[in-house]
Amino acid sequence: MASEKGNKDYAQYFDFSSAKVIKQEDGKTTYRINGRDITMLSAPSYSDEKKRGKEEIKVHYENGVPAELSGLGRGKKYLIYTYGCQMNEHDTEIMRGLFEAMGYEATEERKDADVILLNTCAVRENAEDKVFGELGHMKLLKQQRPELILGVCGCMSQEASVVNRIMHKHPHVDLIFGTHNIHRLPHLLQDAYFGKEMVVEVWSKEGDIIENLPKKRAEGLRAWVNIMYGCDKFCTYCIVPYTRGKERSRLPEDVIAEVRDLARQGYKEITLLGQNVNAYGKDFEDRNYRFGDLMDDIRKIDIPRVRFTTSHPRDFDDHLIEVLAKGGNLVEHIHLPVQSGSTDILKRMSRKYTRERFLELVGRIRKAIPNVVLTTDIIVGFPGETEEQFEETMSIVREANFSSAFTFIYSPREGTPAAEMADDVLYEVKQKRLQRLNELIGELSLANHLELKGQIVEVLVEGESKNNPDVLSGRTRTNKLIHFQGKKEWIGQFVQVRVTEPQTWYIKAEVVTEPEAAAI
Ligand code: 5AD
Ligand code: SF4
Repeated sequence: MASEKGNKDYAQYFDFSSAKVIKQEDGKTTYRINGRDITMLSAPSYSDEKKRGKEEIKVHYENGVPAELSGLGRGKKYLIYTYGCQMNEHDTEIMRGLFEAMGYEATEERKDADVILLNTCAVRENAEDKVFGELGHMKLLKQQRPELILGVCGCMSQEASVVNRIMHKHPHVDLIFGTHNIHRLPHLLQDAYFGKEMVVEVWSKEGDIIENLPKKRAEGLRAWVNIMYGCDKFCTYCIVPYTRGKERSRLPEDVIAEVRDLARQGYKEITLLGQNVNAYGKDFEDRNYRFGDLMDDIRKIDIPRVRFTTSHPRDFDDHLIEVLAKGGNLVEHIHLPVQSGSTDILKRMSRKYTRERFLELVGRIRKAIPNVVLTTDIIVGFPGETEEQFEETMSIVREANFSSAFTFIYSPREGTPAAEMADDVLYEVKQKRLQRLNELIGELSLANHLELKGQIVEVLVEGESKNNPDVLSGRTRTNKLIHFQGKKEWIGQFVQVRVTEPQTWYIKAEVVTEPEAAAI
């Protein structure tokens, strides 16, 4: 199986001016930095993460935890903090599966945990700041309970600068591993228990696809299903292609088997996951099978709702639109990140479409699926963004009539091309633009919701509303949040409701048909 051995010249990527080599064996090197021993099995390198080789990706069907490690966690508890996107949430579900297959129990209390992992996100600086803040807090915990194993994994671990900072400033961390080797968790934990050193194993290059890893899903109603890993788009602001490796698609038969199994278990909704789902299948050499084909096959499975995220406008082809227009379990909601409305900014972002091409795609989608709801991601304050270019973003949001959006201020990511671009826009100006954009999105969201007044919509009931246990909340097919009065027994079921009071970010409704009757 593809893996990496610690035979690199680490000094090239890390500040080892104060490091002493203590031991070198089996491709492992142990350093001493400020009195802390650190064993490097492998470490991230930016230049390797950038490469896109032609190596064939193999698929391995594993059992997850080897028999000799299946009792490693007996009598012990684990806790995972997850930051960032759904991909990370789903990776956490896999790690939870691995922990439980080793006999660990979950806990929410950090004082009870024997292992704490931080599954981190690198997409913006504020996500990273939160993790370093948390690591600071955990220092005291580790002093009180030295036997606690503290690990850092996820996208931040793939950054050499982060690993360097942890090695020098956070010696109380015991384990660092990355996004490509989460299946190695049992072995790495064993290393961390039996040695006293900090263990670092981060692969720069994606490994093969590992199937059959155990998963402990967060709930029994909605499930995430990975369809592909990595991204080859290299948008100039984005760190993901470095932290998640090259695009690799899971085989359709494996995805379909997983969805069928979820349907059998009674799941009501699945979300197909990938950094760029529209590139699904482009890496298959032995077949011509793309995302549209996959959706067409999944459409035939008896699971009530199928979503996907996230799509890149560039690869959104007519076949996919045609398949989505068939409806059924394929819901009328598409998340389509536009990022900017200015062709010039899009070019500098390397998005590979123009404002006009994006609007033309929106037109084709709306024509084929008239009741579709579109949502998006937008970055404001990209280096050098002028007032006029920002106005083009405001106008594309109106023209595309997005129902809602995730909006961000551009955050420079070390090593990405945009981080090198000149930026003369003041941060306060960026904040004001973000505020104006959010106000516009609020207006559009309310206008979209008002159109629904009096209509009957289907809601999948997720649970009690956070603030009022008499109120239930759930989502429509178009992913709109609905609050309504109902019985707790309806949780997990579909209910027909009439929209009564549309608000900006949610909708109040009343029940029309109770689940029992609706099911007949
Ligand atoms: N700064 C701000 N936002 C970013 N995103 C990705 N990289 C950055 C960055 N450097 C946003 C994009 C993407 C979403 C997941 O995060 O809008 O679609
Ligand atoms: Fe990042 Fe662009 Fe890939 Fe999305 S498509 S993960 S924004 S590089």
